[in-house]
Amino acid sequence: MKIIELGIIMNGVTGRMGTHQHLMRSIVEIIRQGGVPVGDDEVIMPVPVLVGRNISKLEKLREMSGVERITTDLEEVLADPFYTVYFDAQITGLREEAVKKAIAAGKHIYCEKPTATDTATAMELYRQCEEKGVKHGVVQDKLWLPGLRKLKRLTDTGFFGKILSVQGTFGYWVFEGFTVPPQRPSWNYRKEEGGGMIMDMLPHWRYVLDNIIGKVKSVSCLGATFIPERVDENGNRYKCTADDAAFATFLLEDGIIANINASWATRVRRDDLFVLQVDGTRGSAVAGLRECYTQHYGNTPKPVWNPDEDQPLNFYEGWSKVPAQEPYDNAFKIQWELFLKHVVKDEPFPWDLKEGARGVQLAEKGLESWEQRKWIDLPEL
Ligand SMILES: NC(=O)c1ccc[n+]([C@@H]2O[C@H](COP(=O)([O-])OP(=O)(O)OC[C@H]3O[C@@H](n4cnc5c(N)ncnc54)[C@H](O)[C@@H]3O)[C@@H](O)[C@H]2O)c1
Repeated sequence: MKIIELGIIMNGVTGRMGTHQHLMRSIVEIIRQGGVPVGDDEVIMPVPVLVGRNISKLEKLREMSGVERITTDLEEVLADPFYTVYFDAQITGLREEAVKKAIAAGKHIYCEKPTATDTATAMELYRQCEEKGVKHGVVQDKLWLPGLRKLKRLTDTGFFGKILSVQGTFGYWVFEGFTVPPQRPSWNYRKEEGGGMIMDMLPHWRYVLDNIIGKVKSVSCLGATFIPERVDENGNRYKCTADDAAFATFLLEDGIIANINASWATRVRRDDLFVLQVDGTRGSAVAGLRECYTQHYGNTPKPVWNPDEDQPLNFYEGWSKVPAQEPYDNAFKIQWELFLKHVVKDEPFPWDLKEGARGVQLAEKGLESWEQRKWIDLPEL
């Protein structure tokens, strides 16, 4: 068996996404399974170096992951030719500078979304990669969630007939920190550090809608900052400068209307933290993170409006759970494996930095729509 070692600089791995999804559940799992097989007699073996600001956090990560090399000196590893891939999961506001340095050093680029906080910068990162001739990709993990993969099978096989509309709900209560400690980092609530619901979630809605339902053409979005003050990681009060909720409507190709609301100041009474309902002429489906339920035309109940009587129908009946028709691995890990095969074997990887820029564009236009209180069209990138 031929082992192809691939040096990967992992920056921002001390964070939530970096540690759990990218390091422990993706790269470490890939190492533990013996690499990514390519053909019958070759495997790609990732060899990561963990980069961060805090050496004691990195030491803990080394112990937890078994990854040997850690450093606080990004420049040093960028100068090391063994490492050919740069991965970035830092807070969004720091991405541009680090990614540009990595491109200049000739590294292939893989990074978290949003790739930048404005479209011009996101497109510049894409162009710089193309000019330098390095490969590039953006995390679009939701595409590999079991619930959304089941949903995509339904759209691909024409289950819905003509798709009419899509309704999504995302969110849960994020504690402010005054009594119960918060479960999300404070920068998420500061616009100047790249935070905000619109900047965080509209990039996800872009690739989910584009890939599963239809291309997004226009957006109308209303943001809100419901919780004005929170408490940060050091116990200090801070002012929330970013939106913590976003109520967005999208016009898609073929006249499909999608409405997705997102809030960190809501309480959950639905199937999952994110649910997406698709209604079509022949059937409907409701997808969560892992499950997906369908109701065909033939199973559609016929309710009659009568508030003077208790509801005789149980609306949860008449839906069927889509069975697991294939194995489902961690969504981030699946995309990592595809990216590694793209780098080493030139296999297709359509989720590139231009796709990343499309996500940023939707967030930027969403913010513009909110500011100007009007519908905004999305120019082709
Ligand atoms: N794909 C997804 O579903 C998903 C989900 C959440 C977050 N994200 C993205 O991942 C990135 C990281 O988000 P996170 O939730 O892991 O954040 P986090 O706060 O948990 O981690 C941030 C990382 O950036 C580093 N960092 C460098 N300079 C910093 C500074 N000045 N302040 C704070 N941290 C600094 C931290 O050390 C840490 O490693 C963001 O770009 C975010 O948009 C993606």
